[in-house]
Amino acid sequence: MENQDFSIIKKVYVAISADLLHHGHLETIEKARELGEIIIGLLTDKAIASYKRLPFLTYDQRKIIAENIKGVKEVIPQNTLDYTDNLRQLRPHYVVHGDDWKTGIQSSTREKVIKVLEEWGGQLIEVPRIQDVSSDQLNKALREIGTTPEIRKRTLKRLLEAKPVVRFLEAHNGITGLIVEKTSVVKEGGVKEFDGIWISSLTDSTAKGKPDIGVIDLTSRLETVSQILESTTKPLILDADNGGEIEHFAFMVRSLERLGVSAVIIEDKVGLKRNSLLGTDVVQIQDEISNFSEKISRGKKSQVTDDFMIIARIESLILKKGIYEALLRARAYIEAGADAIMIHSKEKDARELIEFCKEYSNFPHKVPLVVVPTTYNHLTEKQLEEIGANIIIYANHLIRSAYPAMVKTAKSILENERSLEADEFCLPIKEILDLIPERK
Ligand code: SPV
Ligand code: MG
Repeated sequence: MENQDFSIIKKVYVAISADLLHHGHLETIEKARELGEIIIGLLTDKAIASYKRLPFLTYDQRKIIAENIKGVKEVIPQNTLDYTDNLRQLRPHYVVHGDDWKTGIQSSTREKVIKVLEEWGGQLIEVPRIQDVSSDQLNKALREIGTTPEIRKRTLKRLLEAKPVVRFLEAHNGITGLIVEKTSVVKEGGVKEFDGIWISSLTDSTAKGKPDIGVIDLTSRLETVSQILESTTKPLILDADNGGEIEHFAFMVRSLERLGVSAVIIEDKVGLKRNSLLGTDVVQIQDEISNFSEKISRGKKSQVTDDFMIIARIESLILKKGIYEALLRARAYIEAGADAIMIHSKEKDARELIEFCKEYSNFPHKVPLVVVPTTYNHLTEKQLEEIGANIIIYANHLIRSAYPAMVKTAKSILENERSLEADEFCLPIKEILDLIPERK
């Protein structure tokens, strides 16, 4: 045994996600097995999220799948889409991949693989990709199957670990939830989607024909949550105003967690709820740091799992108290157990917000930072990322864009005394009928 020459066994590297594994992938692996001993570079959540939607299964779940594929000797993480680091470390004889990456998002990755392999005479082998199966179709099918509260709930934490910044868009009913769920654009560098859904107090109230003053009770808010849960699989963050009385907040956390909501944001205000964007034009009173900290910690204690997040929203900039007061509160709320901090501002000019973020980034113990760029919306996601934001919430844009479109149609019908002229503003009947597929 000892004298046997193992050097003839060739090293074959295959990078996969092992999320929606189908026979197309397995044909690639079969080819790799013919060539030698397989080392799987399992794409981490981070690597996958850098160019498309987070995988359905976690890294550890996917690892078990990869380890149990015939011919696989070892599974190692591949932390980036780029293979270079793993290839230089392993110096495999071959890399095997489907031949479907010659164009599109992955073509530059492919070119780099060929180049790096040349350093030691390695070779890229490409296997014709089977045509009868598409990951897109599988994705769609899985989305139709839906999700469970447990899986959905923990997705926000997974996203925050996988991506430097995540984007949430407001929804206030089933159909808007569906828009946030399904809308995507293909851009250089990958497919862009919203990562999750913000259930805004402003838009939930507005959609129900009520002002944003806390007049919609929790039962009615949960009815909106329920509609959105029904039509989506992405994580939800609920805007719970100030969370109510401390004793009541503990119950709310339980209800939300049970439904599969990922996070609740509570603001440090007391008294009659007024929308923050009204600023100091109306009476808005901030809570005592000690009382609000107590609310956070009681909420944390009432959680059943570690997946749920309580996010503390600081209103100091809204109330013109300056960044030092805001920073003081951020420190106290983190100390009380807040899983993330939301800093709100209604200024068009983002200088104060940026100052806050800069100081915040020096905190020795910090948690993810949430921003709501409604007024300072000239800043791009990249710029917000650079100042340290981790969650970007587009808080009210679907209802604000729907309203003028609907008024335009209503006016057109009145003016023309028929609906023919409004047709051009409307989704064709066929499309509205096909929009929501029947469940088989
Ligand atoms: C909401 O969307 O309801 C919010 C954000 O709380 S804001 O309206 O800007 O206060
Ligand atoms: Mg609100």
